[in-house]
Amino acid sequence: MDFNESTTKINLARSFSAECQAGARYQFISKIALSDSQKFLSDTMKTLAKNEMAHAKVFYDYIIEKSAGKSKNIGIEAGYPFESPELKTSLNSSAETELSEAKNIYPSFAKIAYDEGFDDIGKSFEMVARVEETHYEILDYLSKLYKSGNMYKRKIPTKWKCSLCGYVENAKNGFKECPLCKAPQGFIIIDIEKEDTK
Ligand SMILES: [Fe+2]
Ligand SMILES: [Fe+2]
Repeated sequence: MDFNESTTKINLARSFSAECQAGARYQFISKIALSDSQKFLSDTMKTLAKNEMAHAKVFYDYIIEKSAGKSKNIGIEAGYPFESPELKTSLNSSAETELSEAKNIYPSFAKIAYDEGFDDIGKSFEMVARVEETHYEILDYLSKLYKSGNMYKRKIPTKWKCSLCGYVENAKNGFKECPLCKAPQGFIIIDIEKEDTK
């Protein structure tokens, strides 16, 4: 199938748009988190923003490569989220958007790409879907912790590490202020991959 006539081309443009916007929104959230002294949250959102921009680049590059200069302007019509970046709502709404990308949008774009004969693009959509699922897990977990006021409270002793000076303490509750460098609690790293996030 001719790429320039394909639905996949439009889907790539929509995906590029969505990823750029997610990258922007996550940077907005990152700034708000920082103004709330939530350094770890802020850094996490910055990392997710970086991931989204990398996804945007994958989609952009496909359009440039496959359209061979014949699609200089692509019109798209799609709905995109515009929600307040305040932490008590934005972490959760971002998690939901990630889940819908992971479970619905990208798998369906992958299927269309395979049907139209663009296997390489189909594979990329599937790989991005898997990343968005991990984003969902991170955001869903952080949203629950933040809303319950339990960012730095656990039922069992946990390793709490200051991201600024590296001081480590094992306790149920993270230190309110780093005993060594006096950084606020929000600087403590939450080891999301090691915690049970379900
Ligand atoms: Fe993404
Ligand atoms: Fe994502």
